[in-house]
Amino acid sequence: MNIREAIKARHSVRQFKDIPIGEAEAEKLKAVIDECNSESGLNIQLVLNDPDCFDTFLAHYGRFKNANNYIALVGSSSLDDLDERAGYYGQRIVLEAQMLGLGTCWVAGTYGKGKCKADKQAGEKIVCVIALGYGEDEGKSHKSKPLGKLCALKKEDMPAWFKNGMLAAVLAPTALNQQKFFIDIDGEDAVITPGRSPMAKIDLGIVRYNFEAASGHRCVPKVK
Ligand SMILES: Cc1cc2nc3c(=O)[nH]c(=O)nc-3n(C[C@H](O)[C@H](O)[C@H](O)COP(=O)(O)O)c2cc1C
Repeated sequence: MNIREAIKARHSVRQFKDIPIGEAEAEKLKAVIDECNSESGLNIQLVLNDPDCFDTFLAHYGRFKNANNYIALVGSSSLDDLDERAGYYGQRIVLEAQMLGLGTCWVAGTYGKGKCKADKQAGEKIVCVIALGYGEDEGKSHKSKPLGKLCALKKEDMPAWFKNGMLAAVLAPTALNQQKFFIDIDGEDAVITPGRSPMAKIDLGIVRYNFEAASGHRCVPKVK
């Protein structure tokens, strides 16, 4: 499975099989996480075999089952773009997990915040977590806004790279599936504007990663 296939195949998975993540898969995930941490300055951590974090009323209400493994997106509160960075690198890890045959779900609300086992250094905070494991199913496609609401160009006016990027942006997970972003073109780059919502900056990073991975072109946040 290549990255574009992973983008298409990924859907949120909330019910997992009660089996641990294989050693080889865990090692590969740790290697990707190390790369992400050294590039981003974040302190992303893989937590395995911990049923407590999703053993809460909210998590059960959110239909999570056997969510015993997760990635905690941790970083310094002093970073202006902490949420966006967590979104960008988290999505890189999500797509690697997909290529390893693992299901994932981004979770900012329905987990036990006080029960998360990630280590925090002074001045750090947990942005959100990503549940992962072998899915009971593959999840299902989300409903999407029409392209015209997410993008300044008509499909027939898009260069091939931009079209590939937009198709991947539309498939990106966003909080409550709100898809609050707008993408334009600027020469060889795409320019993305986030909407207003509490999770919009995390979503911004996720959508940027999907766009760049599928198009091979930069997707830069609009400078106001
Ligand atoms: C930043 C963020 C936070 C999310 N928080 C939660 C959550 O707390 N609980 C949950 O069940 N799903 C959560 N989701 C998953 C979204 O509901 C899901 O990604 C969206 O409905 C699109 O569906 P898809 O991931 O299957 O494409 C979150 C997603 C994102 C990107």
